[in-house]
Amino acid sequence: MACFIRRAVSSQLSRICGVKEEVFIPHLSAVPVSKKQFGPDLRISLSSLIQNGVLPADQDLQSQTDLLIRQLKGSSTVIEDVSSGRGVINFRINKLLLAEELLGDICREPEGFGVKSEILQNLPRGRTLVEYSSPNIAKKFHAGHLRSTIIGNFIANLKAALGNEVIRVNYLGDWGMQFGLLGAAFQRLGSQEKLKENPLQHLFQVYVQVSREAEHDEGVRLAAAEFFRRLEHHDEQALLLWKQFREISVQEYKKIYQRLGVSFDHYSGESFHQNKAQQVLNELKTRGLLKITQKGTGVVDLSTEGDMSSYSSVVRSDGTSLYITRDVAAALDRKEEFDFDEMIYVTDKSQCLHFQQLFHILRLMDRQWADRCIHVPFGLVKGMSTRRGEVVFLEDVIDEARNRMIHNMNQSKTSKELSDQELTAEQIGISALIVQDFKGRLISDYKFDWERVLQAQGDTGVFLQYTHARLRSLLRMHGDANQTDFDPSHLQEDQSILILQHLLRYDEVLLQSALELQPRYLVNFLLTLCHLASSAHKALQVKGSSTHVAQARLCLFSCTCSVLANGMKILGITPVERM
Ligand code: ARG
Repeated sequence: MACFIRRAVSSQLSRICGVKEEVFIPHLSAVPVSKKQFGPDLRISLSSLIQNGVLPADQDLQSQTDLLIRQLKGSSTVIEDVSSGRGVINFRINKLLLAEELLGDICREPEGFGVKSEILQNLPRGRTLVEYSSPNIAKKFHAGHLRSTIIGNFIANLKAALGNEVIRVNYLGDWGMQFGLLGAAFQRLGSQEKLKENPLQHLFQVYVQVSREAEHDEGVRLAAAEFFRRLEHHDEQALLLWKQFREISVQEYKKIYQRLGVSFDHYSGESFHQNKAQQVLNELKTRGLLKITQKGTGVVDLSTEGDMSSYSSVVRSDGTSLYITRDVAAALDRKEEFDFDEMIYVTDKSQCLHFQQLFHILRLMDRQWADRCIHVPFGLVKGMSTRRGEVVFLEDVIDEARNRMIHNMNQSKTSKELSDQELTAEQIGISALIVQDFKGRLISDYKFDWERVLQAQGDTGVFLQYTHARLRSLLRMHGDANQTDFDPSHLQEDQSILILQHLLRYDEVLLQSALELQPRYLVNFLLTLCHLASSAHKALQVKGSSTHVAQARLCLFSCTCSVLANGMKILGITPVERM
């Protein structure tokens, strides 16, 4: 919210109640706009006033509230009216000041609007490591990896926008038995040529085939175990082949991430932490945390009673490491290398227990910073398929989104002739995937439906892009000047006021998103902004209006457009200029 307005109201409250201004600032919130009626602009809850000793808890609340309201009325030029609502005090703000201050703020520093708000000042800031995407080499890139990729990217963008130093890490599944299988069978089933041509597909094919063989062929299983053992013992030949698989896969992935607008500072992986994994086992042993079962497996007892009612296996009987061992090792290595203040892992919810156990083991090892490790889980996507069938590769999803979008654009009458239609269609298609994915709670499962995802009307990424492109076209048509100089009396129609009231909420939406690490607040905020912008665009003509009116309206649209674009970028969407 415009600092000025929040401050002005807080300072009145402060003056009347004799309590410091700062007390009120975080409790003043913007009232969500409603289509049906014009509401007040700000409100403060009575419970927060009681909590802070402004209203007495033991006296008649109603009469105290009424008294406060009487005192607030007419107390300042900013506050136009004060009234009581259900459990709250409502404020109507002077609309000239609202327009002037809010749009002034945005015009002066579009990038800083919202993210620099004082209500965000108390969020801890520091170095955040976000680990996301993390596909498994040679295995399927399923919808879960796509979700991890876009959700992790959103969290990293949001953290960065709020002033944290962000380290983006991709933790590849580049170690483990799948390489045993692949390595043992590649000579027989694979081809170097195909590997160069189409690496991800080829590795996957070989992997699928050898896994099938392994199901009924003990010999194949033994060969795989032997190859993995060689890898863990750093056999040169084995490592050479592994390295080739890994490098080729990473190169391919980089190309695809680029299409998605996603990047990483580090491509790490399970393979990176082998030395540390050994040290972890030693440390567990010295600390008396490692128990050996009858089968020879090494486990850590995680039960409160010490009765092994819950435990985690950390080393196989043949001495090889497990997924969780490598995760403990990776966490320790990262802490040493990056000295992060917090670390966020993004995976599907089937791994909740895994991360609970991981953080538990770290705490048993006296790593207090485990309390600042967070797992952000998400639900399953059902039915994501392409014309070629079930999704196996990330590339297929992006291609499908692009192709369907090209088709839709060619059908639509409003579509422009674009020189870069493919790229634009791809960017819109990707935004549609993102918005569809971010609309609900991350933890919920959802059913994927291409038709719904790509609708031009309705609450989709296509609609966000369409609104953005229309606003940009309007602004370009009128010279694209950043209008800081405007007369707010020309922004008093309902359509303008609704946008202003809505923009007032942007910082609260960012705060909520940051506290919960959930994108839906921001997505829904932007969708509403687009609905309001499109009504305003219809009602408030720029062309044909007098210079002053046109100028004020352009300012409103330009501010709306930049908040929209900033919000989209945080979500991981590249706003398009034309469509
Ligand atoms: N590669 C894993 C998978 O596909 C995800 C890795 C998640 N990150 C982690 N630190 N364990 O299931």
